[in-house]
Amino acid sequence: MAISLYVNDKPVELDIDPDTPLLWALRDELRLTGTKFGCGIAQCGACTVMLNGQTRRACVTPVGTLDGADVRTIEALEGPAAEAVKAAWVDLNVPQCGYCQSGQVVTATALLEFEPKPTDEDIDNAMAGNICRCATYARIRKAVRQASDALEG
Ligand code: FES
Ligand code: FES
Repeated sequence: MAISLYVNDKPVELDIDPDTPLLWALRDELRLTGTKFGCGIAQCGACTVMLNGQTRRACVTPVGTLDGADVRTIEALEGPAAEAVKAAWVDLNVPQCGYCQSGQVVTATALLEFEPKPTDEDIDNAMAGNICRCATYARIRKAVRQASDALEG
């Protein structure tokens, strides 16, 4: 079954089993390997992408449900919030091993696109589903705050 969708603003046709998780369509078919496999059961956030502007766990999203959808991955994360997040991540040297970080950056960007001035509680709630085995949480929180402040200026 052919599935048509947009990935990073490009039209894409996938001729694969509609039950295939979006994560594997991105990584294996489209070679967009920035989105990571962690748990495979929607528990860690490593596979987070944006789907029609909202975060989604790619590991549990069958491509067959996505006909016509707009998917944005870490490779094409753009706009004021994304640029502020990426700059803060670099400035504060957030990643340790880096494995979870594309999911963290996508989630932080989605938060600031929705709420440019989040409270500490908003940040904690938004980031809670993204697990980091290196425990970079303190730097992540600081970076989201710095990105938010940068958006203000
Ligand atoms: S790999 Fe999808 S949430 Fe963990
Ligand atoms: S930086 Fe290593 S898992 Fe988060």
